[in-house]
Parts: sequence; structure tokens; C-alpha cells
Amino acid sequence: MNKKKLKMIFAVGTRPNFMKVAPLIIEVSKYPNKFTWLLVHTGQHYSEDMSKILFDDLSLPKPDIYLGVGSGSHAEQTGKTMIEFEKICFETKSFAYEKPDLIVVFGDVNSTLACALVGAKLHIPVAHVEAGLRSFDRAMPEEINRIVTDHASDYLFTTCEDANENLIKEGIAEDKIYFVGNTMIDSLLNHINRAEDSLILDKLKLRNNGQVKRYGIVTLHRPSNVDEPETLKSIMGALEIIAMEIPLVFPVHPRTIWRIKDFEPAGVIITPPLGYLDFLSLMSNAAIVLTDSGGIQEETTFLGVECLTLRDNTERPITVRKGTNTLVGNDPKRIIGTTFDMLKTGNPKMESLKYWDGKASKRIIEVLRQ
Ligand code: UD1
Repeated sequence: MNKKKLKMIFAVGTRPNFMKVAPLIIEVSKYPNKFTWLLVHTGQHYSEDMSKILFDDLSLPKPDIYLGVGSGSHAEQTGKTMIEFEKICFETKSFAYEKPDLIVVFGDVNSTLACALVGAKLHIPVAHVEAGLRSFDRAMPEEINRIVTDHASDYLFTTCEDANENLIKEGIAEDKIYFVGNTMIDSLLNHINRAEDSLILDKLKLRNNGQVKRYGIVTLHRPSNVDEPETLKSIMGALEIIAMEIPLVFPVHPRTIWRIKDFEPAGVIITPPLGYLDFLSLMSNAAIVLTDSGGIQEETTFLGVECLTLRDNTERPITVRKGTNTLVGNDPKRIIGTTFDMLKTGNPKMESLKYWDGKASKRIIEVLRQ
């Protein structure tokens, strides 16, 4: 009986992976006779506010296996993840010592690459959720992860038609590519009502007599923005000027926190990383978001919230063409000027995006059921 079930491993490791796997687990759980699965957490993100809080908010089950890989250089992190993850593929007790039939990986982080490579080397089929995105900037570690993961994968699930085109141009066979939509938007839709109960706006004093104030959010963690002190200092200077006009909330990523110690921007509300529901509540009520994250470019597009991306390129150009996203790089004058222009013009017009409809996970499971 168990033999007939498809044995899957969902491999996750970082904060942005968790919202992408959550709706798939809901969907796959509807077919207990068809699938059996394990949730493996590599431990790339391990702090309570980067992992546990997200698991709780997303109602994710506790990982079946935790690899405890932690931080390190790219080679250390990727190598250690491969070594630990390979053992799981050989030894998984819940699959009665049989190899999994499919490894599912998400996004573009080091954990994604490592687990996909293990699958490819062991001849275990790999499914990549969020395949085909390209910034065409190989200085970004994520771009290398995206390209290699896609070429090691057997099922490529894409969020937009651009991604299909990118994959086809790279010579990936069309019959491996499935345009299914965006599982991160599935999660957003699954949780947006619960996020309304979040008390974060009151906690941060962003409500006045019941009315939500106009405010902005900042998130920054890309090496290109935060690793070079001069660059970081000039961005912080820009935030101070913007904060004179509108309150800014800055939940600070662990890699950024000690770097901003010397030039914390005056007037900006600094918080630790927030839970999913609190952040969703903050984002959906914000006037503007300044970020270098990938996922936030998509979430703000979906929510119709103005987004300034502090990068020169994006692997998600659809958010610029059809959504609310503007690329501003990290020049402080441009950041300040564009922010003030946008605050004057109000909320942007946007088009609805195909398959960003809460059913991407359903489509993925439908493909796998076939
Ligand atoms: C990783 C991803 C990035 C993604 C981001 C989302 C790669 C190459 N990068 O970047 O694409 O946008 O996650 O958050 O995979 N740290 C902690 N606690 C944690 C995790 C990290 O303190 O739970 C600190 C450590 O000092 C660590 C640093 O943050 O060295 C960077 O963590 P790492 O996982 O290497 O990369 P991120 O910057 O989080």
C-alpha cells in the first residue's frame, strides 16, 4: 500500500522558503493515499525570529528532520547542507530506508541549491518551486543558485511567463516547465484575514484615534547594500531624511543588525525581524515599502502597495512592468527623490497577474498527482 505513494521530501532552510512550502503542505495533506512526505529544515536560518516564529504563524508542522547547518561562507553552508541532506536521502526512516521519489526545493537560497544538487547526484527527481527567475547579475549569489538549481531539476514550477521564456532560452526542455503561479501569494491569501488581528500597528504607535497613520517600511539585507560601510551609511542617511516626512519602520535582518550599530538612522523605528502575520499587517497598511528583498517586491505588487527596490536589477521584472515596483539602486539622492515623488502621487495602478490567485499549490499537486 505504502509502495504506491509518492515519497516526497520538502527541503527548506530560510525565512522566504517557509511561506512557499506552507500552502503546498496544506494541499498535499488532502491526498494521504497518494503522497507521503517529510519536511526537512536545513537550519540555514536558525534564530527564533527567523525560523520558529514563522513556523508558528504559518501553522507549519514541526520539521521531521532538522539538519542544524547554520551560518558560514557560501561554500561551508552549501557543502555542509549537501553532506547532511545526502544522509537523509539514504537513511530516511519514515520511508523504510527507501530513497525518496521526489525532492522539492524552493526559491534561490544556498539550501535550495545544496538539496537540488544532492537529488541530481543521487538520481532522485527534483522539483523546483519558483524556477526560471533571472536577474542576469551573476554577482548575486542567488543568481548562481537559481541557474544551477534549475538545471539540476526535473520539474520546474514557475510563477510567471517570463520565467518560462528564460528557461527555454537556456535550453531546458519545455515539457519539464509548468507555469503554476506563485505559492507565496497562496500563503498571503491564506493568512491575510488573520493578519488583520495583529496588534503590531498599535504596538508601534502607528494608529491615531483608530486611524492608521501614513508610514513606510524598510527591509535591507543584500550584501550589495549592507556589507560595505560607506554604502550602508549613505542609505541610512537617506532614511533619516525620509523619516522626517513619514514614520519609517525598519525590522532589521540579523546580517544587518551589527552593521548598522554605528549609524542607526535617527527617527526610524528599529525592530527585530517580525513574524509573518505582523509583517503582513504592516505591509498591507503601508504607504510605501523600501526594500532589497525579492519576495516583498511580489507581495507589495499583489497588495497594491508602492515599492522602491534598492537594487539595480530584479529577477522579478513583472513587478516593475505590471505592478507597483520601481528600481532605485542605492544612490541616496535617487532614493529620497523617488520616495517623495511617490508619496505625492499616491497608490499605483497595477494589473492582476495570471495565476497569482491562491491556487498555485493546487496546480503543483495536480501535476505531481498525474
Ligand atoms: C539568505 C539568502 C537570501 C535571502 C535571505 C532571506 C543565500 C545565499 N541568501 O540570506 O537570498 O534573501 O536569506 O532572509 O542563501 N543569521 C542569524 N540568524 C539566522 C540566520 C542568519 O543571525 O537565523 C546571521 C548570521 O550572522 C549569518 C547572516 O545572518 O552569517 C547571514 O545569513 P545567511 O543565511 O548566510 O544569509 P542571509 O543574508 O540570511
